[in-house]
Amino acid sequence: MTASESMATDRPDDLPLPPGPNSYPVVGNTLGFLRDPFAFYDSLDDYGDVVSYSVAGEEFCTLLHPDYVEQVLVTEESKFGKSDFVQDAGERFVGNGLFASEGEFWRRQRTLIQPAFYRERIESYTEPMVEFAADAANSWIDGETVRIDEVMKRLTLRILSKALFDLDIRNQQSAIRDAVNAINEKGDAGSVDAFLPDWVPTATNRQFRRATDQFDDVIGTLIEKRRGDPPGDDFLSILLHATDERGEGMSDKTLRDEMATFLFAGHETTALALTYCWYLLATNPGVRGKLNDELDSVLDGDTPTMADLRDLKYTDKVVTEALRLYPPAYVVFRQTKEDVNVGGYRIPAGTSLTFPQFLIHTDDRWYDDPDEFRPERWTPEFENSLPDYAYFPFGGGPRHCIGMRFANAEIRIVLATIARRIEFDRVAGGDLDLRMGTTLEPTDPIEMTVVKR
Ligand code: HEM
Repeated sequence: MTASESMATDRPDDLPLPPGPNSYPVVGNTLGFLRDPFAFYDSLDDYGDVVSYSVAGEEFCTLLHPDYVEQVLVTEESKFGKSDFVQDAGERFVGNGLFASEGEFWRRQRTLIQPAFYRERIESYTEPMVEFAADAANSWIDGETVRIDEVMKRLTLRILSKALFDLDIRNQQSAIRDAVNAINEKGDAGSVDAFLPDWVPTATNRQFRRATDQFDDVIGTLIEKRRGDPPGDDFLSILLHATDERGEGMSDKTLRDEMATFLFAGHETTALALTYCWYLLATNPGVRGKLNDELDSVLDGDTPTMADLRDLKYTDKVVTEALRLYPPAYVVFRQTKEDVNVGGYRIPAGTSLTFPQFLIHTDDRWYDDPDEFRPERWTPEFENSLPDYAYFPFGGGPRHCIGMRFANAEIRIVLATIARRIEFDRVAGGDLDLRMGTTLEPTDPIEMTVVKR
């Protein structure tokens, strides 16, 4: 039975439950999962494309076929909500922001916020993207060793803070950075803390609460200060002046939650995408040579503009391929609101569904030599032949990433601005080890040597 045939009409209660790894009484599959989440996920396809198991008292079902991803995110999306598990984990920091909220409130907020992501707006943010990336490139000395993961986080946080608050936080980012780091610690999938409520007094939880309190103070002061200001171009200003059809705006709490959501969703993700681009370029000199040729011929010594992005076709493929191999948001979560039929199996109401991009993006049913970094594979013919949800680094359907356009512009602009002047060589090290935090992160620092071109 093909995936699309099995999505047909059988009533869920007549169907079998999905298969899955053996589970132990009480703990289910928790120990296997915590021991090595990657090995655990890798073992799931032994059971097919719809696999069930339980972790930390939560029933999970992982879907590994693009058709099922499309069914849940798009065609039958109303049968699924955001996962309680994810909402509980993020609640203290992102509150009821766009990422976590549901129903009418989410719809209202998405409509009010959307204009901040219109193409013209994104275009106005490209100036600080170029300027801050060029500042970073200027600050490095030939032969110097930098921690590329840290450097990219600082750079994307500086860019995002400018776009969100019209603040240049080059030298004063601690409250914002601490909050983001603390929530990441808590979200580490290999750690027990990820499954504990915030009130349990572990060291991680205490640090998390301190950091979010401090963050609330900073944002609260900023909102208060800005309430009386005339409209500006930054997100906070746009949101402060946005009103719905009844003429109502957002409360301080709603604004705080949205700002925390953007900050969290939009800084680490793009920093990681860039980090993986630099890593892949340093370890694939042939690709790096082609990228250099394109940057030299298209930019001809200038900094890139939004208009140049259209001509930077190879740069685009490099980023697309990096997001395939190392998707920073590596798993999308949903929860069934009712019993549903997926792939001929009954998924009971209340089950947490996961779609791991890092597995679907490297499935040899859709990609030849799936583990190889080959930007050339992204020809129009290949894209047409690919099932829609075999590639979804930004999710899909009504809840797809609202920041996609911003992120796509930022990653390409920063990459082009820096790579036209600098190459990074990898300081000797082993393979790239990853961990499943709130995002897909390198386990160890990634050090690189700056080589001026
Ligand atoms: C490489 C960078 C990024 C990646 C890989 C990424 C990935 C994703 C994914 C997969 C989702 C869907 C989650 C789901 O369906 O449950 C999402 C949602 C979201 N992203 Fe991004 N994102 C990125 C950058 C950004 C940026 C720059 C912003 C904001 C400035 C942002 C803000 C959001 C928000 C607010 C949502 C929730 C949207 C909603 O539910 O209506 N993201 N992102």
